[in-house]
Amino acid sequence: MDFLDQIICGDCLGVMNQIPDGTVHLAVTSPPYNLGISYDNHDDSLVYENYLEWMKKVWIETKRVLVPGGRFALNIAPTSIKNFRPIHHDFSNQLREIGMTMRTEIIWYKQTMKRRTAWGSWKSPSNPHIVPSWEYVLVFCKDSWTLESESKDTDITNDEFMRFSDGFWYIPPESQRRGHPTPFPEELIYRLIKFYTYRGNTVLDMFGGTGTIAVVAQKTGRHFIHIDISQNYCEIAKQRLETARMLQEFPLSVGRTGRKSKVTKRVPSESKEATSLAGRTKVEITHQSQLLEKRGKYTTDKSEPKKSKPKKPKEPKHA
Ligand SMILES: C[S@@+](CC[C@H](N)C(=O)[O-])C[C@H]1O[C@@H](n2cnc3c(N)ncnc32)[C@H](O)[C@@H]1O
Repeated sequence: MDFLDQIICGDCLGVMNQIPDGTVHLAVTSPPYNLGISYDNHDDSLVYENYLEWMKKVWIETKRVLVPGGRFALNIAPTSIKNFRPIHHDFSNQLREIGMTMRTEIIWYKQTMKRRTAWGSWKSPSNPHIVPSWEYVLVFCKDSWTLESESKDTDITNDEFMRFSDGFWYIPPESQRRGHPTPFPEELIYRLIKFYTYRGNTVLDMFGGTGTIAVVAQKTGRHFIHIDISQNYCEIAKQRLETARMLQEFPLSVGRTGRKSKVTKRVPSESKEATSLAGRTKVEITHQSQLLEKRGKYTTDKSEPKKSKPKKPKEPKHA
């Protein structure tokens, strides 16, 4: 496929139309929220009905390009307090209408405000406000809950699986990235990719911005398709990707003095040992509050696939 592992500058619908059916394993995106945010060349204040109509067309294309069992992780923030619209409900209704199955929602908790404002009626029930300190990641699948893989090329570790399957993700937001107002933090995308795909799968972001999906896909051995309408943002994505590729080829294993850097394993103070359900594997559980971290390290489970024990031949039954 010509689109594979490319940063493509263009309109999402125009480009997606050319992607063959059933070729993407995971789509992850954060569309423009229609909150009047100042993007490079997108008008982010459409009439709400027109905005929804546009988004529905994007969802239909997304469904078409997904493989059976493919997933769609849609990041969306609660809208402003005064002009509140349940946009996440509108989106999930649209996606269910076109036949996608909603499998879960993840709460991305990102409260980092030191000074809070917008209390509404301070200490009075007359009109107090809830200040959104989270975003949603709504997760859907196409046709089947199960994503098949011939090679079963999984690379998530025990610890990651335990942590990521708890749907409350405490990850600090990324501040502006070279002028882009709303970039993804790598940690958020790392979790989605590791949890929902196999190595070698293809991940699509049709509103790719500064290329976080592309970069994390590259670092984790997945293919990607990145689309964004802004030449500027695509340029940033290309540069990030180039850096990621170079670091993979020439990892920073040598410190400034020329000696090999010492690699130390972080041991969380609140972590405790637990035994998995099967009672066989020892795993470490880390408390969510310790996870306010930027992803610096990409892990892979390199353990050998478990060999199944040869079955004992059954004793013949006698009547
Ligand atoms: C919320 S941002 C995505 C940011 C991205 N997740 C990141 O990590 O940088 C939405 C993006 O949609 C892009 N966009 C807006 N209209 C578009 C269109 N018609 N086709 C493709 N991209 C579009 C904007 O340029 C913007 O970068």
